[in-house]
Amino acid sequence: MQVPFIDLRSHHEPLMGELVDAFRQVTETSAFAGGPFVARFENEFAAFCHTRHALGVGSGTDALWLSLLALGVGPGDEVITSPNSFMATAEAASLCGAKPVFVDVDPDTYTMDPEQLETAITLRTQAIIPVHLFGQTADMDPIMAIARRHGTAVVEDACQAHGAEYKGRKAGSMGVAGCFSFYPGKNLGAFGEAGAITTDESDLRTKVQVLRDHGQAAKYFHSTIGWNARMDGIQAAVLSVKLRRLDVTNSARRAHAKLYSELLADEPRVIRPKTGRHNLHVFHIYGVRVKNRDEVLQRMAARGVNCAIHYPVPIHLQKAYAFLGYKPGSFPVAEQCAHEFLSLPMYPELKPEQIRFVVDTLKESLFN
Ligand SMILES: Cc1ncc(COP(=O)(O)O)c(C=O)c1O
Repeated sequence: MQVPFIDLRSHHEPLMGELVDAFRQVTETSAFAGGPFVARFENEFAAFCHTRHALGVGSGTDALWLSLLALGVGPGDEVITSPNSFMATAEAASLCGAKPVFVDVDPDTYTMDPEQLETAITLRTQAIIPVHLFGQTADMDPIMAIARRHGTAVVEDACQAHGAEYKGRKAGSMGVAGCFSFYPGKNLGAFGEAGAITTDESDLRTKVQVLRDHGQAAKYFHSTIGWNARMDGIQAAVLSVKLRRLDVTNSARRAHAKLYSELLADEPRVIRPKTGRHNLHVFHIYGVRVKNRDEVLQRMAARGVNCAIHYPVPIHLQKAYAFLGYKPGSFPVAEQCAHEFLSLPMYPELKPEQIRFVVDTLKESLFN
């Protein structure tokens, strides 16, 4: 048996009729950049996230960067986030001219440790970006309380957490802004690059609308220097089709995760993912921890199971951030995760027999 890490083809096959129809509608109206399909998706996605507004942008990176810019983050400022994320989280701060500052993560949920957050706050802190890693939100109540005490904005990196909930609140609805990626492999994926910002703040919405469109509030009248970060009409039309099934596909991911965890319960060499007490997890990634991870991954690949690593090097130890002066040992939990994380195949269309094969293969591939 062969098990791919992700299978987008099987995901799109049952939607083919609706997707072709969506393409036809966009083509017939030539609404390619921005336009009615983007506006419709923005309304639908805001409703899904329980926010007043959603703004389509070019990628998750754009969403993070433009949110920070709209909040006024700039040179001399600090933005606190966690080091075991995709590079884009920290890049967004750097693109504003600010300095990313890291705090370690909780060893159970791998999301920002609120206790360490408070000590990292300085007079320069302008924003906090908790990362909702692998599909569950960070522990938002203590993070929001600390942010409120210090008058600091919270921007949620919800790029891996479409539909996740914390105490019944949706990812992207708790901070001043929520940032989503619709990269094709995400729980809600486009047919290329796309992203969105969710917010209840009309002022932030207006600022992002201007920034994503070359700083123009009216055509060819530029009040500020912006960028081209608009969402394509085609991507919005595709996302509208797929959003309708997101709750169903997220439930399928949760069921797969449950089966993985049951089958791995008797294997002490594998640390299974834990779901935070208040969380509804959407399992963008089912990440376990094992010793000799690289060798285990190779052995599994040789036996037909493709896994992935999210992420092999934590951001504070990336070459690009050497100038920040962090060293191995700065964030022990994130660093241990980077050595041990192994992402098992996860997509809604996985079959129980494939999950059993993945687990058997993992057990056979472990070292004593
Ligand atoms: C946690 C996280 N933040 C930010 C991003 C950036 O999103 P995009 O690739 O759409 O720019 C990603 C995407 O991989 C992500 O997983």
